[in-house]
Amino acid sequence: MIGRLNHVAIAVPDLAAAAAQYANTLGAKVNPPQDEPDHGVTVVFIELPNTKIELLYPLGENSPIQRFLDKNPAGGIHHMCYEVEDILAARDRLLADGARVLGGGEPKIGAHGKPVLFLHPKDFNGCLIELEQT
Ligand code: CO
Repeated sequence: MIGRLNHVAIAVPDLAAAAAQYANTLGAKVNPPQDEPDHGVTVVFIELPNTKIELLYPLGENSPIQRFLDKNPAGGIHHMCYEVEDILAARDRLLADGARVLGGGEPKIGAHGKPVLFLHPKDFNGCLIELEQT
């Protein structure tokens, strides 16, 4: 069911410093920051030859990324995003298998303008999983 690894998301305490580190120290192609108020994050996308890295920084009050950084002040891997062809079919299969889909199970429009869903990390070895319809 799942396809390509679309991105790995890393929550960072200093977005400008992290973006500069990827651009200068690691020599990656780094895009400008974009605000995503619906998700409570500011995102910087880093393009790698085979996938993307998504740097996440809190935006607004009650950002889930702020709660993550409170627990992990140095930052850390926040989620993995896998591609699926049909997000509603994927959701229904996961629900039938007993997995928990966050946010009531209705897809939201994600950072790339495509429908996304998140799966409960406790059902997936402690890893928050994002599914994105391609
Ligand atoms: Co993501």
